[in-house]
Amino acid sequence: MSTSLFDLSGRTALVTGSSRGLGRGIAEGMAKAGARLVINGTDPARVEAAVKEMRAAGLSAEGSAFDVTDEAAIVGAFESFDRAGIAIDILVNNAGIQRRKPLVEFTTEEWRKVIETNLTSAFVIGREAAKRMIARGRGKIINIGSLGSELARATVGPYTAAKGGIKTLTRSMAVEWAASGIQANAIGPGYMATDMNQALIQNPDFNSWLMSRIPSKRWGRPDELVGAAIFLASSASDYVNGQIVYVDGGMLAAM
Ligand SMILES: NC(=O)c1ccc[n+]([C@@H]2O[C@H](COP(=O)([O-])OP(=O)(O)OC[C@H]3O[C@@H](n4cnc5c(N)ncnc54)[C@H](O)[C@@H]3O)[C@@H](O)[C@H]2O)c1
Repeated sequence: MSTSLFDLSGRTALVTGSSRGLGRGIAEGMAKAGARLVINGTDPARVEAAVKEMRAAGLSAEGSAFDVTDEAAIVGAFESFDRAGIAIDILVNNAGIQRRKPLVEFTTEEWRKVIETNLTSAFVIGREAAKRMIARGRGKIINIGSLGSELARATVGPYTAAKGGIKTLTRSMAVEWAASGIQANAIGPGYMATDMNQALIQNPDFNSWLMSRIPSKRWGRPDELVGAAIFLASSASDYVNGQIVYVDGGMLAAM
């Protein structure tokens, strides 16, 4: 990358849920901008495979497999980073799950699972990262929101609640940690073609509804979050804090 404002050389980024999908796209994009990447997921074999593929492409990557809902594992991972001298300069809270059914049919256990995976994890991992960033006087946190951070759609109630929480958690992080040199912002992806959306991609009715609503008239690609992610991870955004940047083909702007 030629523009030093966006250069991530010398910085280490942890992207949760980055063995595939949007997290993988963000991780590869940040690595191409010079960052050393820590790839995360629950399955150690998948994490290792992603690390190998990235290294084969000449990118700097290592793996840290843990479940983002397992607090002890998160604390343990950060302690192992400390022992290995790995300072997480950039944290992307990306891991997430989707569950679709009418709100009246959701069990409380299913609700909690979605909230813990998509929202509580960002608090716990953000807290562990921020303790160390505060001590160093700098850091970048990027939380992955959604159009659901602003709007509801039937059948995804717990996800919408979690993503609304991501928007306001991001503001809390920004407000509490800005004076310590930390910028906390969020990215709100629109409809992106990943595994999470396979059922929707294969549903002709959903597709025709989406194409009638979305100004760009197409699904987004995982690599299309990279520009926003590099901006929010780099010096280019040093006075940007508490914001959510939507990368949605114009969806939120449309009537
Ligand atoms: N795809 C979209 O259209 C879209 C739109 C808006 C927001 N998002 C958000 O982007 C993020 C990534 O979504 P995606 O589309 O790439 O989904 P995906 O299902 O392809 O990938 C999700 C990743 O998170 C990981 N993950 C899930 N639970 C985990 C856990 N407990 N611990 C560790 N890792 C875990 C998965 O292994 C996977 O690598 C999510 O937060 C999602 O809500 C996606």
